[in-house]
Parts: sequence; C-alpha cells; structure tokens
Amino acid sequence: MRLVRIIFILLIVAVPLLASAEKAKTIDELAKMFDSSQCKNCHADIYAQWEKSHHSRPFLGVSGGMMLIPVVKASAFKVKDPKEATLKTFPCFKCHLPQAVTHAEDSVAVEVTQALFAFSDEKATDDAKKAAKAKVAKLQITCLVCHNEKAITHKLVEGKPEKGIIYGSKNVDNHPGGKIKKSVIMSQAIFCGQCHGTGPNFEFDYPVQCATLYGSYQHNYLSNGGLQSCQECHMKKVNGKSDHLISPNFDDKAQTSALLSKNINLDVQTLGYQWLRKAGALTPMVVVNTKITHNAGHRIPDG
Ligand code: HEC
Ligand code: HEC
Ligand code: HEC
Ligand code: HEC
Ligand code: HEC
Repeated sequence: MRLVRIIFILLIVAVPLLASAEKAKTIDELAKMFDSSQCKNCHADIYAQWEKSHHSRPFLGVSGGMMLIPVVKASAFKVKDPKEATLKTFPCFKCHLPQAVTHAEDSVAVEVTQALFAFSDEKATDDAKKAAKAKVAKLQITCLVCHNEKAITHKLVEGKPEKGIIYGSKNVDNHPGGKIKKSVIMSQAIFCGQCHGTGPNFEFDYPVQCATLYGSYQHNYLSNGGLQSCQECHMKKVNGKSDHLISPNFDDKAQTSALLSKNINLDVQTLGYQWLRKAGALTPMVVVNTKITHNAGHRIPDG
C-alpha cells in the first residue's frame, strides 16, 4: 500500500516536471529547440533560398517592419507592462510562430514584449533598438517547424510529430541528417493551408483575421476546376530541388514586379465613335472594356 502511495506521489511530481521540461522558457531556448542550422551543411541551396524567404522572418515581414508593436501597444491584446503578456496576448503565434503555442511558456511572450517595448521606447539608443530587433529575428519558421511541427494534421489517428524525426515526402531510413518519415500532407495544399488561413480565427476570445488565402484556393480555384497544389506553383524545382524561396519575396521589388507582370493580364478593348444626337451635333464617344485576369490559384492580393 505504502509503495503504491509513493509511486502515486512520484507520478504527480514527475508528470508536471516532464511537461514543463519540454517547454521553452526563453526565446533562446525556443530557437534552440527548432534550430535548423545543421541542415545548412548538406542542403546549402535550399537553406539560402529559405533565408531570403518570408518564412525566415515571420515577424519582420516586409522591409523589416516590427509588426507586433501595434498588437502589444494598440490592440485588444495590448498590455500596460510586458510582464502581463502571455501566449494568449499573441494570437498571431498560431501561424507566424506555431512552435510557441505548443513548446513555449508564457515567459517567452513576456520576453518578446520586453523587446517590443524596448524597440518602441522613444529614448532607446540605436544599439538598444538593434538588440531588440535581433531578439525578434530569432523567432523563425525554420526547416523543423515545417518538416516536424506542422507535418501532421490528423493527429487523432497519426499521433503528434515525433521528437527528433524529420518529415518529408517519403520514408528515408539512412538520411545522414537523421531519420525521415513520410508525411502524407507535405506535398498537399492542406499543409500550407494550416497557416495560410480560411477566414476569421474564432477560437480566440477576440477573433482575429489575417491570411485567408487557403479559403480562396478552396472556394474559388478548386471549385472552378483548378488542379494544381500550392507546392506545384510556388515550389517549382530549381536544380532538381523544390524552391524554398516560395516567392513572392516582397523585399525584392524587381522579382515581385516581374512575377506580377508575368501573371496578371490586362486586356483592354476600345471603340471610338461619334454620337449623332441631332442633325449636325456630333459628340465624340468612347467605349472601353477592360478585363483583368491572373494565373494565381486564389485571389491576389490576399489579406
Ligand atoms: C549530413 C548531411 C545532411 C544533413 C545534416 C541533412 N540532410 Fe537532408 N538529405 C541529405 C541527403 C544526402 C539527402 C538525399 C539527397 C537530396 O535530396 O539532396 C537528403 C534528403 C532530405 C530530404 C528529402 C527526402 C525525400 O523526400 O526525398 C528532406 C526532406 C531533408 N533531407 C530534410 C533535411 C532537414 C530538414 C535537415 C535539417 C534538420 C537535413 N535534411 C539535414 C543530407 C543531409
Ligand atoms: C491564420 C493564420 C494567421 C494568423 C492568426 C495571423 N497571421 Fe499574419 N499572416 C499569415 C500569413 C500566412 C501571412 C502571409 C501571407 C498572406 O499575406 O497571404 C500573414 C501576413 C501578415 C502580415 C503582412 C506580411 C508582412 O510581411 O508584413 C502582417 C503585418 C501580419 N500577418 C500580422 C499579423 C498579426 C499582427 C497577427 C496577430 C494579431 C497575425 N498576423 C495573425 C497568417 C496569420
Ligand atoms: C507555419 C505556418 C506556415 C506554413 C506551414 C506555410 N506558411 Fe507561408 N507564410 C507564413 C507566414 C506567417 C508568412 C508571412 C511572413 C511575413 O510576415 O512576411 C508566410 C509567407 C508566405 C509567402 C510570401 C508572401 C507573403 O504574403 O508574405 C508565400 C508565397 C507563402 N508563404 C507560401 C506558402 C506555401 C506555398 C506554403 C506551403 C508549401 C506555406 N507558405 C506554408 C506561414 C506559413
Ligand atoms: C514553409 C514550410 C517549409 C520550410 C520552412 C522548409 N521546408 Fe523543406 N519542404 C517543404 C515542402 C512543402 C516540401 C515538399 C515540396 C513538394 O512536394 O514539392 C519540402 C521539401 C524539402 C526537401 C525535398 C527536396 C525536394 O526536391 O523535394 C528538402 C531536402 C527540404 N525540404 C529541406 C528543407 C530545409 C533544409 C529547410 C530549411 C532551410 C526547409 N526544407 C524548410 C516545406 C518547407
Ligand atoms: C496555379 C498556380 C498557383 C496555385 C495553385 C497557388 N498559387 Fe499562390 N500565387 C500564384 C501567383 C501567380 C501569385 C501572384 C504572383 C506572384 O507574386 O508570385 C501568387 C501569390 C501568392 C501569395 C502572395 C499573395 C499576395 O497577397 O500578393 C501567397 C501568400 C500565395 N500565393 C500562397 C499560396 C498558397 C498557400 C497556395 C495553396 C493554398 C497557393 N498560393 C496556390 C500562383 C499559385
């Protein structure tokens, strides 16, 4: 009986310890858990593409803007003091930093908020601002966020992604970077749909809406007979490997304009004539028909 009680007590003590041991308390700990710098040794091209992609800077987006400042300073989720921040203060984490939702404690949200306050402090020196931004830049959608954390959607049947496993399009037992298991969604649109949104996110006490493109893909592309996946259009092979730049890169203005001019068509047809309302009173008239079409698998722009 006594033994049973001791085991019971041990279980109570051990379970929360195990649970908390798995969660990151700081930005550095979270970054380390999903650190993918080792992939660079063997996948240099893909790594270089990813480094330029929006997925490598989910909180600095276009032109290095600190997009989370309005969230903590001027939204329904604002806090007076960084210490009040929790993971719930940042509904944005659901898609911009999904690993925080599953693998971080509230203290990470506090540290992010401290950096945002430090950056927006009017008296902050350039060095202090630089340091604050460097902290935020450590929060990334790394290789392992896609190739592990987001690789399984139907968890009730398939279970959660396993620690230490890389997920890819097929099983590879002798992968030199660690075992690769097949993810059934990796090459499917639903994989991207997890973050690219279907509409308002009603699960929050104050629903937010950001990306809605996956909704448009489903309702306005597939339903009109569209056949291609996101990967087929956005990750076309470069030198035999799926392109991880996943264009467009809005910071590369030349590339963005080239893509848009290739993919958006403007058809203009005109008819000029003279309107003879009454004898001798000719009025010049013009009819202009414009038709804008595009090749995307969804509405553009989105958001
Ligand atoms: C020591 C070298 C090495 C390291 C480190 C490494 N890989 Fe690989 N990986 C390879 C080789 C070799 C292949 C097979 C040839 C290829 O596709 O380049 C491969 C193939 C893959 C594949 C494709 C499997 C398929 O579907 O065909 C994925 C996905 C992958 N690696 C992901 C990763 C990720 C993510 C990391 C970092 C966590 C990583 N690799 C680290 C060498 C490495
Ligand atoms: C449903 C997932 C999701 C949620 C929740 C979400 N976002 Fe986004 N957000 C995205 C995706 C995906 C993109 C990029 C694709 C697009 O714009 O279609 C994006 C783009 C953005 C952009 C523009 C891109 C840029 O590079 O500047 C900003 C700013 C942004 N989000 C801020 C936020 C903020 C702030 C929150 C929280 C209040 C938030 N998002 C919540 C998925 C989400
Ligand atoms: C873990 C969530 C997540 C997944 C999975 C994901 N994305 Fe994104 N994606 C984002 C976020 C967040 C941004 C915006 C980052 C920023 O602020 O610039 C983004 C940006 C982009 C952009 C750049 C344009 C823009 O509006 O910023 C493209 C294109 C894109 N994603 C396509 C894809 C495709 C295709 C897939 C599937 C192969 C995919 N994404 C998977 C979260 C995700
Ligand atoms: C936004 C999500 C996302 C991120 C981030 C990401 N990958 Fe991938 N990766 C994918 C998807 C999706 C595929 C499958 C593409 C397909 O089926 O066409 C893939 C395929 C691969 C492959 C197989 C190559 C091939 O030709 O199909 C390798 C290798 C790989 N990734 C390595 C990496 C490495 C290394 C990183 C980090 C530098 C990384 N990935 C980051 C989504 C991602
Ligand atoms: C038939 C090809 C095709 C398919 C399928 C497709 N896209 Fe696109 N996508 C494009 C084109 C073309 C553009 C606009 C040109 C550009 O900037 O690359 C674009 C633009 C985007 C953008 C930038 C949006 C903006 O606001 O400017 C994002 C993000 C994106 N796609 C994500 C996705 C995701 C996620 C999927 C799957 C759910 C997907 N795309 C499916 C072709 C496609």
